[in-house]
Amino acid sequence: MRKPFIAANWKMNKTLSETREFISSFVPAVKDVKDVDIALAPPFTSLAIASENLKNSNILLAAQDVFYEEKGAYTGEVSPLMIVDIGCRYVIIGHSERRQYFNEADEVVNKKIVSAKKAGLGVIFCIGESLAERDAGKTFDVLQKEIADGLKGIDDKDIVVAYEPIWAIGTGKTATSEQAQEAHAYIRERLGFLYGNKADEIRILYGGSVTPENIGSLMACKDVDGALVGGASLKVENFIKIVKFKEGK
Ligand code: PGA
Repeated sequence: MRKPFIAANWKMNKTLSETREFISSFVPAVKDVKDVDIALAPPFTSLAIASENLKNSNILLAAQDVFYEEKGAYTGEVSPLMIVDIGCRYVIIGHSERRQYFNEADEVVNKKIVSAKKAGLGVIFCIGESLAERDAGKTFDVLQKEIADGLKGIDDKDIVVAYEPIWAIGTGKTATSEQAQEAHAYIRERLGFLYGNKADEIRILYGGSVTPENIGSLMACKDVDGALVGGASLKVENFIKIVKFKEGK
């Protein structure tokens, strides 16, 4: 059985006081949720305060990105060791916004995963096709390449895959349950080529305009094991509802 995993990706949002405020409402509201792994990925600037305020809670801390070198002259970058040191258990790698705005290629994504795992971090590895690629019938080709290149030489342990169709991110256009299930089943099949039976244990999250309204139908899909939530994770009442999706059934 794969335990559901629901993660908030705040992207470039929330100051320190907003982070504190969110956490002070969120922690007590979800403290009894035992059957879902919950993670928060605030911006780097909020990690320290989040780490402090999440101590002894059932919420895991995640970073939104990491550089692959351990240390040195890389102005503006943050190393895996720093992420671990501040209390992160996970890191998001290969988000489409990193690929799109910061030109992160699959090779860079792969180096980051290698380095993050070496430091003991769990990785939320993001993949997904653009609308043009979907319309051209290339969805599976894109996923296949991103998986093969991104996970080259990586063992299966502590990898969480996030399927995030780019056309669904921040657009209010969620993939239908059928589209999500189809892509997730394909991803699991490809993971099977890399990891054999272990692919059945790897959690595959859906991301792209997840809301309290659509989380239930997405989670009902056989191969959807959780969600990576952007916009709807910024309002604490919405993210609480998403984490407690079982109660909304
Ligand atoms: P969204 O973002 O929920 O705002 O669509 C999801 C993501 O990019 O992780």
